[in-house]
Amino acid sequence: MENQLNLGVNGSSHSLPILPGETLADLLRNRLHLTGTKIACEESECGACTVLVDGEPVLSCMYPAQRAAGKSVLSIEGLAGQTPSPTLPLEKGKGVCLLLVELFGHSRI
Ligand code: FES
Repeated sequence: MENQLNLGVNGSSHSLPILPGETLADLLRNRLHLTGTKIACEESECGACTVLVDGEPVLSCMYPAQRAAGKSVLSIEGLAGQTPSPTLPLEKGKGVCLLLVELFGHSRI
């Protein structure tokens, strides 16, 4: 249906009514109840809303939900049960966002 948004989120298929102007962050949080995706600055500054769309990081607070049609989205909830990399050199108190580390790998931080 043309007024439906079909996408995959964390390995599950969803078909949802399109809401004009909705961001991917709002769709994830408000309609799929995946509140692990945080909304902080809403200005593409902080990265708290980062998710992967077809394997590429996007700032979901600025990413139109409709743009995710037919794509695969991975949020922090999709990482549940996965074992963090044993080579991850995290130091206590560094303030490193574990999601970013898992999504991008420690070599890119
Ligand atoms: S909430 Fe800060 S970049 Fe999206």
